[in-house]
Amino acid sequence: MAGASHVVVFLVFSNLAIAMGATPPILNPYVGKCKSSCEEELNISLYLHQVFAGAARNQEVILSPGFPNSFGVIAVNDWTMHATANSTASIIARAKGMHIQATQSQANGFAWFVPFSMVFEDSSFGGSTLQVMGAISGANGEWAIVGGTGKLSMARGTVNFTEVQPQSNPNSENYRKIDIHAFYTPSPAV
Ligand SMILES: *[C@@H]1O[C@H](CO)[C@@H](O)[C@H](O)[C@H]1NC(C)=O
Ligand SMILES: *[C@@H]1O[C@H](CO)[C@@H](O)[C@H](O)[C@H]1NC(C)=O
Ligand SMILES: *[C@@H]1O[C@H](CO)[C@@H](O)[C@H](O)[C@H]1NC(C)=O
Repeated sequence: MAGASHVVVFLVFSNLAIAMGATPPILNPYVGKCKSSCEEELNISLYLHQVFAGAARNQEVILSPGFPNSFGVIAVNDWTMHATANSTASIIARAKGMHIQATQSQANGFAWFVPFSMVFEDSSFGGSTLQVMGAISGANGEWAIVGGTGKLSMARGTVNFTEVQPQSNPNSENYRKIDIHAFYTPSPAV
Protein backbone atom coordinates (compact mmCIF):
# COMPACT_ATOMS: atom_id res chain seq x y z
CA MET A 1 0.00 0.00 0.00
CA ALA A 2 1.43 3.36 -1.08
CA GLY A 3 -0.06 5.16 1.95
CA ALA A 4 1.57 2.80 4.41
CA SER A 5 4.98 3.12 2.80
CA HIS A 6 4.73 6.93 2.99
CA VAL A 7 4.03 6.63 6.69
CA VAL A 8 7.07 4.39 7.11
CA VAL A 9 9.29 6.84 5.19
CA PHE A 10 7.97 9.71 7.31
CA LEU A 11 8.63 7.85 10.54
CA VAL A 12 12.18 6.94 9.45
CA PHE A 13 12.99 10.55 8.58
CA SER A 14 11.36 12.07 11.63
CA ASN A 15 13.16 9.62 13.91
CA LEU A 16 16.39 10.40 12.08
CA ALA A 17 15.80 14.13 12.59
CA ILE A 18 15.23 13.63 16.31
CA ALA A 19 18.28 11.38 16.54
CA MET A 20 20.38 14.10 14.87
CA GLY A 21 19.27 16.61 17.47
CA ALA A 22 17.06 18.75 15.15
CA THR A 23 14.89 21.34 16.91
CA PRO A 24 11.59 19.73 17.88
CA PRO A 25 8.63 21.48 16.22
CA ILE A 26 7.50 23.33 19.32
CA LEU A 27 8.48 26.84 18.24
CA ASN A 28 7.49 27.83 14.72
CA PRO A 29 10.82 28.81 13.09
CA TYR A 30 9.06 31.22 10.70
CA VAL A 31 7.46 33.41 13.34
CA GLY A 32 8.78 36.94 12.98
CA LYS A 33 10.90 36.14 9.94
CA CYS A 34 8.43 37.00 7.13
CA LYS A 35 9.59 34.06 4.97
CA SER A 36 7.13 33.97 2.14
CA SER A 37 4.00 36.07 2.75
CA CYS A 38 3.70 39.43 1.04
CA GLU A 39 1.46 42.37 1.81
CA GLU A 40 -1.05 43.09 -0.93
CA GLU A 41 -3.24 46.09 -1.67
CA LEU A 42 -6.98 46.18 -2.30
CA ASN A 43 -8.49 49.23 -3.96
CA ILE A 44 -12.09 48.73 -5.07
CA SER A 45 -15.32 50.70 -5.21
CA LEU A 46 -18.71 49.15 -4.56
CA TYR A 47 -22.26 50.34 -3.89
CA LEU A 48 -23.86 49.56 -0.54
CA HIS A 49 -27.63 49.17 -0.76
CA GLN A 50 -29.56 49.95 2.42
CA VAL A 51 -33.31 49.24 2.35
CA PHE A 52 -34.73 50.52 5.63
CA ALA A 53 -38.45 50.17 4.88
CA GLY A 54 -40.78 48.05 2.79
CA ALA A 55 -40.99 44.36 2.03
CA ALA A 56 -37.45 44.22 0.56
CA ARG A 57 -35.82 45.76 3.66
CA ASN A 58 -32.43 44.34 4.54
CA GLN A 59 -32.38 45.46 8.18
CA GLU A 60 -34.62 45.22 11.25
CA VAL A 61 -34.80 47.36 14.42
CA ILE A 62 -34.12 45.05 17.34
CA LEU A 63 -34.17 47.58 20.20
CA SER A 64 -35.93 50.92 20.49
CA PRO A 65 -35.63 52.11 24.09
CA GLY A 66 -37.58 55.35 23.56
CA PHE A 67 -34.90 57.89 24.52
CA PRO A 68 -34.85 61.30 22.79
CA ASN A 69 -33.01 61.50 19.44
CA SER A 70 -33.45 57.72 18.95
CA PHE A 71 -30.47 57.34 21.28
CA GLY A 72 -29.74 53.64 21.75
CA VAL A 73 -31.82 52.35 18.85
CA ILE A 74 -30.16 49.21 17.54
CA ALA A 75 -30.84 47.64 14.15
CA VAL A 76 -29.39 44.49 12.66
CA ASN A 77 -28.37 44.78 9.00
CA ASP A 78 -27.61 42.43 6.13
CA TRP A 79 -26.95 45.17 3.55
CA THR A 80 -25.85 44.12 0.07
CA MET A 81 -22.94 45.49 -1.94
CA HIS A 82 -22.92 45.59 -5.73
CA ALA A 83 -20.60 46.72 -8.52
CA THR A 84 -23.17 49.31 -9.63
CA ALA A 85 -25.91 51.29 -7.87
CA ASN A 86 -28.51 48.77 -8.95
CA SER A 87 -29.82 46.03 -6.69
CA THR A 88 -30.30 43.70 -9.66
CA ALA A 89 -26.50 43.66 -10.17
CA SER A 90 -24.90 40.58 -8.63
CA ILE A 91 -24.02 40.72 -4.94
CA ILE A 92 -20.27 41.12 -4.37
CA ALA A 93 -20.45 41.22 -0.57
CA ARG A 94 -22.80 41.76 2.36
CA ALA A 95 -22.43 44.06 5.37
CA LYS A 96 -23.50 41.77 8.22
CA GLY A 97 -23.64 43.66 11.49
CA MET A 98 -25.59 46.35 13.24
CA HIS A 99 -25.99 50.11 13.59
CA ILE A 100 -26.57 51.90 16.88
CA GLN A 101 -27.58 55.55 17.31
CA ALA A 102 -24.88 56.83 19.66
CA THR A 103 -25.38 60.61 19.80
CA GLN A 104 -27.49 61.55 22.82
CA SER A 105 -28.42 65.18 22.22
CA GLN A 106 -30.37 66.20 19.16
CA ALA A 107 -28.31 69.41 19.08
CA ASN A 108 -25.31 67.27 18.18
CA GLY A 109 -26.99 65.55 15.24
CA PHE A 110 -26.71 61.79 15.02
CA ALA A 111 -24.06 59.11 14.70
CA TRP A 112 -24.98 55.58 13.73
CA PHE A 113 -22.14 53.46 15.01
CA VAL A 114 -21.61 50.59 12.54
CA PRO A 115 -19.61 47.51 13.32
CA PHE A 116 -20.01 44.91 10.56
CA SER A 117 -18.34 41.97 8.84
CA MET A 118 -18.07 42.59 5.12
CA VAL A 119 -18.53 39.03 3.84
CA PHE A 120 -17.48 38.57 0.22
CA GLU A 121 -19.57 36.31 -2.04
CA ASP A 122 -17.79 36.85 -5.36
CA SER A 123 -15.34 34.52 -7.14
CA SER A 124 -12.16 36.40 -6.12
CA PHE A 125 -12.70 36.79 -2.38
CA GLY A 126 -15.71 34.55 -1.64
CA GLY A 127 -15.73 33.50 2.02
CA SER A 128 -13.13 36.08 3.02
CA THR A 129 -14.09 39.05 5.18
CA LEU A 130 -13.12 42.58 6.11
CA GLN A 131 -14.01 43.78 9.61
CA VAL A 132 -15.30 47.35 9.38
CA MET A 133 -16.25 49.90 12.02
CA GLY A 134 -17.02 53.60 12.23
CA ALA A 135 -20.02 55.92 12.23
CA ILE A 136 -22.54 57.40 9.83
CA SER A 137 -23.12 61.05 10.73
CA GLY A 138 -24.08 62.39 7.33
CA ALA A 139 -23.94 61.75 3.60
CA ASN A 140 -20.17 61.29 3.57
CA GLY A 141 -17.70 59.76 5.95
CA GLU A 142 -14.95 57.29 6.57
CA TRP A 143 -14.83 53.92 8.35
CA ALA A 144 -11.84 51.92 9.52
CA ILE A 145 -10.96 48.43 8.33
CA VAL A 146 -9.62 46.84 11.49
CA GLY A 147 -9.01 43.29 10.32
CA GLY A 148 -9.84 40.55 7.87
CA THR A 149 -10.02 36.80 7.39
CA GLY A 150 -9.28 34.25 4.66
CA LYS A 151 -7.52 35.78 1.66
CA LEU A 152 -7.91 39.18 3.34
CA SER A 153 -6.27 38.20 6.61
CA MET A 154 -4.55 40.90 8.63
CA ALA A 155 -6.29 43.65 6.65
CA ARG A 156 -6.18 47.28 7.70
CA GLY A 157 -7.32 50.34 5.83
CA THR A 158 -10.24 52.66 5.27
CA VAL A 159 -13.62 52.76 3.60
CA ASN A 160 -14.86 56.13 2.36
CA PHE A 161 -18.56 56.41 1.73
CA THR A 162 -20.70 58.89 -0.17
CA GLU A 163 -24.44 58.74 -0.42
CA VAL A 164 -25.61 58.66 -4.03
CA GLN A 165 -29.03 59.23 -5.57
CA PRO A 166 -31.50 56.56 -4.48
CA GLN A 167 -32.48 54.21 -7.26
CA SER A 168 -36.22 54.64 -6.86
CA ASN A 169 -37.66 55.43 -3.44
CA PRO A 170 -35.74 57.78 -1.11
CA ASN A 171 -38.23 56.97 1.66
CA SER A 172 -37.19 53.35 1.80
CA GLU A 173 -33.69 52.91 0.43
CA ASN A 174 -30.38 54.51 -0.43
CA TYR A 175 -27.10 53.66 -2.12
CA ARG A 176 -23.69 54.61 -0.81
CA LYS A 177 -20.61 54.45 -3.01
CA ILE A 178 -17.90 52.90 -0.88
CA ASP A 179 -14.21 53.27 -1.76
CA ILE A 180 -12.25 50.50 -0.09
CA HIS A 181 -8.51 50.89 0.38
CA ALA A 182 -6.80 48.15 2.38
CA PHE A 183 -3.52 46.36 2.85
CA TYR A 184 -3.65 42.69 3.77
CA THR A 185 -1.29 39.77 4.12
CA PRO A 186 -2.63 36.43 2.90
CA SER A 187 -1.07 33.27 4.30
CA PRO A 188 1.77 31.91 2.18
CA ALA A 189 0.65 29.28 -0.34
CA VAL A 190 3.21 26.71 0.90
C1 LIG B 1 -7.64 53.36 -6.44
O1 LIG B 1 -8.32 53.23 -7.66
C2 LIG B 1 -8.84 54.44 -8.16
C3 LIG B 1 -9.67 54.12 -9.39
O2 LIG B 1 -9.12 53.08 -10.12
C4 LIG B 1 -7.69 55.39 -8.46
O3 LIG B 1 -8.20 56.61 -8.91
C5 LIG B 1 -6.90 55.60 -7.17
O4 LIG B 1 -5.76 56.42 -7.43
C6 LIG B 1 -6.45 54.29 -6.60
N1 LIG B 1 -5.83 54.54 -5.31
C7 LIG B 1 -4.76 53.89 -4.89
C8 LIG B 1 -4.25 54.29 -3.54
O5 LIG B 1 -4.20 53.05 -5.58
C1 LIG C 1 -31.00 47.97 -13.04
O1 LIG C 1 -30.62 46.87 -13.85
C2 LIG C 1 -31.73 46.31 -14.58
C3 LIG C 1 -31.23 45.05 -15.25
O2 LIG C 1 -30.02 45.30 -15.96
C4 LIG C 1 -32.25 47.33 -15.54
O3 LIG C 1 -33.37 46.82 -16.22
C5 LIG C 1 -32.67 48.59 -14.76
O4 LIG C 1 -33.06 49.59 -15.67
C6 LIG C 1 -31.53 49.10 -13.90
N1 LIG C 1 -32.00 50.19 -13.07
C7 LIG C 1 -31.38 51.36 -13.02
C8 LIG C 1 -32.00 52.38 -12.12
O5 LIG C 1 -30.36 51.60 -13.63
C1 LIG D 1 -10.94 58.95 2.00
O1 LIG D 1 -11.05 60.33 2.20
C2 LIG D 1 -9.89 60.90 2.76
C3 LIG D 1 -10.19 62.34 3.08
O2 LIG D 1 -10.86 62.95 2.02
C4 LIG D 1 -8.74 60.74 1.76
O3 LIG D 1 -7.55 61.26 2.31
C5 LIG D 1 -8.54 59.26 1.47
O4 LIG D 1 -7.56 59.08 0.47
C6 LIG D 1 -9.83 58.64 1.00
N1 LIG D 1 -9.66 57.20 0.86
C7 LIG D 1 -10.20 56.50 -0.12
C8 LIG D 1 -10.00 55.01 -0.05
O5 LIG D 1 -10.83 57.01 -1.04
